[in-house]
Amino acid sequence: DYTPTREDRFSFGLWTVGWEGVDVFGGAVRPRLDPATAVRKLSELGAYGITFHDNDVIPFGASASERDAALKPFRAALEETGLQVPMVTTNLFSHPVFRDGGFTNNDRDVRRFAIRKAADQIDLGAELGAKVFVAWGGREGAESGAAKDIRAALDRYKEAFDLLGQYILDRGYDLRVAIEPKPNEPRGDILLPTIGHAIAFINELEHPELVGLNPEVGHEEMASMNYAHGIAQALWHGKLFHIDLNGQTGPRYDQDFRFGAGNARGAFWTVDVIESGGYDGPRHFDFKPPRTEDMDGVWASAEGCMRNYLILREKTAAFRADPEVQEALAAARLDQLATPTAAPGETVDTIRGDEFDPDEAAQRGMAFERLDQLALDYLYGVR
Ligand code: GCO
Ligand code: MN
Ligand code: MN
Ligand code: MN
Repeated sequence: DYTPTREDRFSFGLWTVGWEGVDVFGGAVRPRLDPATAVRKLSELGAYGITFHDNDVIPFGASASERDAALKPFRAALEETGLQVPMVTTNLFSHPVFRDGGFTNNDRDVRRFAIRKAADQIDLGAELGAKVFVAWGGREGAESGAAKDIRAALDRYKEAFDLLGQYILDRGYDLRVAIEPKPNEPRGDILLPTIGHAIAFINELEHPELVGLNPEVGHEEMASMNYAHGIAQALWHGKLFHIDLNGQTGPRYDQDFRFGAGNARGAFWTVDVIESGGYDGPRHFDFKPPRTEDMDGVWASAEGCMRNYLILREKTAAFRADPEVQEALAAARLDQLATPTAAPGETVDTIRGDEFDPDEAAQRGMAFERLDQLALDYLYGVR
């Protein structure tokens, strides 16, 4: 069966199962989910971890004693269940003060406040054992032209990551930062809109080794990008620090479906890359149970994320192990792709010496369709 265990390392954002259903067209359809209840229920369902924004647990503007009071039952539930906190993040988008973002807000006072707020959550994360701090810059962006000087905003974005990186080093925390790209929503255009933009940005930081990525399925697909390709490239750069798994149907609003719903073929290749590409972090779900659901539906949706992952993990493993697939991979010349183009010591000049008949080579088909159909046979459940 597809019953999750802690070894599967599934984790959920508290804000996912805790989403009350408030959207731009309507108010809450579900009651507030108490954080300690979320911890117990996720543990019961087989998850190993929970992640949260500061304000998912601690009310915005809480005093020190209010903060302790809010954290107390949450900590107790973590201790009682053994649920881990592998990642934490900061809410720099809900409060009206962040109307123009946090780290790149035109207002310098707000930027300084955002850095303090992030540092507080880094402290809490380190204390709870989190290894990753996610930075989703949902409000870092613009709806219009001259209002945002993009090059200046990127200077300020870099400054924020440099300051926070130095802070992590000075405090000796065993924690790295993961940027989460998104093309738009809630801003008309968000800075660092895709995996590629974020990787290039990281190279400009003072401590690039401390900063990597938290790519979300839906966000890349909103930009018509191929998520499996995106995380494969992030792995190639050594930058896949964390993942947000969910579902999306093409370039439209951020649907945040449960993992495996939406683009099922994309989900198949996503699991294939995660399982065989060297990613060893949590399998983290960032989805929104639709507004149609009551709390039973919320837990069914959370269970569906894990179940779909386990189903696809089984299917992709069977695909990779199938002798006919291995034969088809060879026919598609994957072994040649893995072989360097030049032999050791060769130069362009020795390559010039090749005898090659392009008209003969042009006759060779690539045999990709047979290989892809074998994958679809697994996905559709007939193999
Ligand atoms: C979204 C984003 C957010 C972030 C989360 C963590 O749906 O637009 O995924 O959910 O992941 O806020 O910072
Ligand atoms: Mn999303
Ligand atoms: Mn996300
Ligand atoms: Mn989300």
